[in-house]
Amino acid sequence: MKVGVLKETKPLETRVALTPDTVKQLLKKGFEVVIEKDAGALSSYSDEAYQAAGATISTREDVAQADVVLKVNALTTDEVKLLKEGNVTISFLYAYTIPEVVEALKAKNTSAFSMDAVPRISRAQKMDALSSQANLAGYKTVIAGANALGKIFPLMMTAAGTITPTKVLIFGAGVAGLQAIATAKRLGAVVEVTDVRPETKEQVESLGGRFLTVEGVEGVKVEGGYAKEVSAEFLQKQKELVEKHIKDADLVITTALVIGKKAPVLVSEEMVKSMKNGSVIVDMATESGGNCALSEKDKTVVKHGVTIIGDSNLPAQLPVNASQLYGTNIITLLIHLADKDGFKWEMEEEITKGSLITHKGELVHEFTKSILNK
Ligand code: NAI
Repeated sequence: MKVGVLKETKPLETRVALTPDTVKQLLKKGFEVVIEKDAGALSSYSDEAYQAAGATISTREDVAQADVVLKVNALTTDEVKLLKEGNVTISFLYAYTIPEVVEALKAKNTSAFSMDAVPRISRAQKMDALSSQANLAGYKTVIAGANALGKIFPLMMTAAGTITPTKVLIFGAGVAGLQAIATAKRLGAVVEVTDVRPETKEQVESLGGRFLTVEGVEGVKVEGGYAKEVSAEFLQKQKELVEKHIKDADLVITTALVIGKKAPVLVSEEMVKSMKNGSVIVDMATESGGNCALSEKDKTVVKHGVTIIGDSNLPAQLPVNASQLYGTNIITLLIHLADKDGFKWEMEEEITKGSLITHKGELVHEFTKSILNK
């Protein structure tokens, strides 16, 4: 089977779906690999490096004719037009947000697997691209915040006086939030954290963070490790608690997500106004609407003296590692689904069923159907 890697075309994207190392691993399994010219140029992987690993370099049109086409971002309708009838694609898709691409994939009889739909189960951990990318983004969010802040993170005692440590307030202790806590602690900050899932308290404390506990209310429904629903009463109490702490924060990082919903707005304009002049907010959730009322997607703005960073693709700022981890995620999924002679098509198997979006001209993914057929 021939595996092709298309160059990404989304603005600000620098990642690539396979690195020379992951190419080698596929070749060892008997697959052939063809890479679009300059596909890895922005992530430091040259055409020569891919050739040395054993891949061939070719045009976009030729790569799209491979049996399996790999990408980081969702294919565009123009890219789907280039595909060979009935071939397989693997990429992030967020299929429920792009009905026109789903229609194009159906029309081409493409079997499209979506990396964001791989179930978060132990057996699929090595295929979990959402986590691998969120982990890197959690690190980068602290670095971006530190860069924009006119202060250092650690306590420093000098002959000219003592510098107190930076205070970081983090919303959400999931994959990105936990990495942000670890990174901010390593740099010497004092870290406070709020999350709606009570079980995160222990994780936060084990990293040296201080958990802000909302006392006396229940009202959070957790399913499969995700916050599913949060009651209005809980959010009100959380707001009152956070308002007291945000005034003293130098850096606020927001990573709150309720699965399948628009990002909850947790930092209001009033809260921004209450913050210190020169402080910084990094809002990681701008792709899904933002956790801060004043953030703007892919922009850095200054409002009421506070710098607000809204980068929606932080992994693309670390393309070397992000492509390395994504490449491992995607080949692990591919090797699970297929060998050099073809796909197994075990339609009831959990990972296949969870991540296959279109197949034989049909939309087969239940969650995507439930949203698109509303
Ligand atoms: P996750 O699902 O692992 O964590 C989200 C956390 O938010 C959970 O712990 C959840 O309990 C918590 N949460 C939900 N409602 C909350 C509330 N009202 N207050 C406080 N916490 C609340 O998600 P992950 O992978 O850590 O991603 C976090 C966010 O970052 C998502 O919005 C994701 O789309 C985004 N993201 C952004 C990137 C970027 O480059 N800007 C890259 C990767 C992810």
